[in-house]
Amino acid sequence: MEPETTQKLIELALAARKWAYVPYSNYAVGAALLTDSGKIYDGVNIENAAYPDTICAERVAIFKAASEGERHFKAIAVVSSNGGFPCGSCRQVMAEFGLDTEVIIADENGRVIHETTVNGLLPGAFTPEMLFKDRE
Ligand code: THU
Repeated sequence: MEPETTQKLIELALAARKWAYVPYSNYAVGAALLTDSGKIYDGVNIENAAYPDTICAERVAIFKAASEGERHFKAIAVVSSNGGFPCGSCRQVMAEFGLDTEVIIADENGRVIHETTVNGLLPGAFTPEMLFKDRE
């Protein structure tokens, strides 16, 4: 990906972060997801008094995009105070839509902490093909 595109995704994820609803952890996360069609969807973590009902920023961005018909993603930037990595649930949701999506992890200063792919984050993922390949 072009460095300018990476930079733009980081900036949008950083900007989205101010909308994070994090009264319990105070750990705000922002995500920006670039689709193959060129659109960008952002997302933030939204916590809940029933703690497990919290949803991460990455999944909010992916579900916003998927709910508008998007299925193919080029890249996702994830920004937090210290450049925390996507959780296991988010990795699995990313894997649903492709293992080659680039994942950029940055901190609150916009500094890239790590760049990888979904496959890099979740090797050996359980993917849709496992359910469909014998049905052809
Ligand atoms: N969180 C994310 O938004 N993304 C991740 O991949 C890791 C965790 C959120 C969930 C919760 O609101 C807070 O960070 C602390 O776990």
